[in-house]
Amino acid sequence: MLPVRTLIIGSGGRLGRALSVAFQSKGHLVQAFDRSMLDLSSANAIESTLRPLEFDLLINSAAATNVDRCEIHPDEAFAVNANAPGHLARIAFDKGAWLIHLSTDYVFDGQTNRPLTEQDEPNPVSVYGRSKLAGEQAVLAVSTAFLNVRVSWVFGPERPSFLDWVIDQARISSSIAAIGDKFSAPSYTRDLASWLLYLMEMPDRPSGLLHLCNSGSCSWLEYGQFALDTLLSAGQTLVCSKIAFKRLAEMEKFVACRPVFSTLSTARFRALTGLEPRSWQEAVREYVLKHKLMATAA
Ligand SMILES: NC(=O)c1ccc[n+]([C@@H]2O[C@H](COP(=O)([O-])OP(=O)(O)OC[C@H]3O[C@@H](n4cnc5c(N)ncnc54)[C@H](OP(=O)(O)O)[C@@H]3O)[C@@H](O)[C@H]2O)c1
Repeated sequence: MLPVRTLIIGSGGRLGRALSVAFQSKGHLVQAFDRSMLDLSSANAIESTLRPLEFDLLINSAAATNVDRCEIHPDEAFAVNANAPGHLARIAFDKGAWLIHLSTDYVFDGQTNRPLTEQDEPNPVSVYGRSKLAGEQAVLAVSTAFLNVRVSWVFGPERPSFLDWVIDQARISSSIAAIGDKFSAPSYTRDLASWLLYLMEMPDRPSGLLHLCNSGSCSWLEYGQFALDTLLSAGQTLVCSKIAFKRLAEMEKFVACRPVFSTLSTARFRALTGLEPRSWQEAVREYVLKHKLMATAA
């Protein structure tokens, strides 16, 4: 069987880097594009860079992901998060290729208190969320066989996230506060990559919308505290071992609104694949023990 020719857009990002490594290690012929190789805000650049290529699968994990910057620069957000995915989808469709586009729990308003399914009505409360929702719609307008994968709170060794910030702070500062009244589920890049590989290899590939994250739900505070507890149990020394509670409403530096409860239900993924995403605690523990332990003085 010929290897799958896979384009990964956004390969300089947290998830894009993980996908490039994972798909290559499974024998895909990966061509990876970071921002320096392809600026998604330019339709001409997309056309001239990708149109000449032959490929079977295109994964787009590039996005304008700074939620507050998107609020201030909506044109840039919509160019990258909405127009570009539609353009990528048209090229993939013309090539007869399949497309996986990454999206977000921020398409929801966060006003529920139960895990959100693909049937739940999106209602974004920020420019970032609106632009990502428009991107999903642009992709499915080209082909209903394409797949939008919504993920949440992505972490991994490829690029620092909230988790790494908390750990760094706990090593140097005697007090840390994190938001305790906003809930979602962390998603480990390593797990996301293995699940996307599994979906890609299914004889009947899923289409439409799919929610993917590690199992469970937590606040930012619980997420960070679990990482610190894991380090403490491993014998690590921290300057701060207890994170203080902060309310979302106290985050005066936030420009954009954030959904309060946007934990994604993975019921559709579980029904389609028979796979059970491991808990966010297991995933965080593995990440912390593998990547965040510091050598202690003998
Ligand atoms: N991070 C999260 O917690 C989270 C949560 C929910 C959903 N998601 C979604 O998951 C996907 C992957 O996110 P991630 O965590 O890997 O984010 P990330 O690390 O910010 O990666 C996004 C990549 O897109 C690139 N990019 C931004 N503007 C671009 C442009 N004009 N042209 C080309 N590339 C551009 C960025 O380039 P630079 O490296 O130059 O910045 C970055 O490498 C995105 O679709 C995101 O919306 C992420």
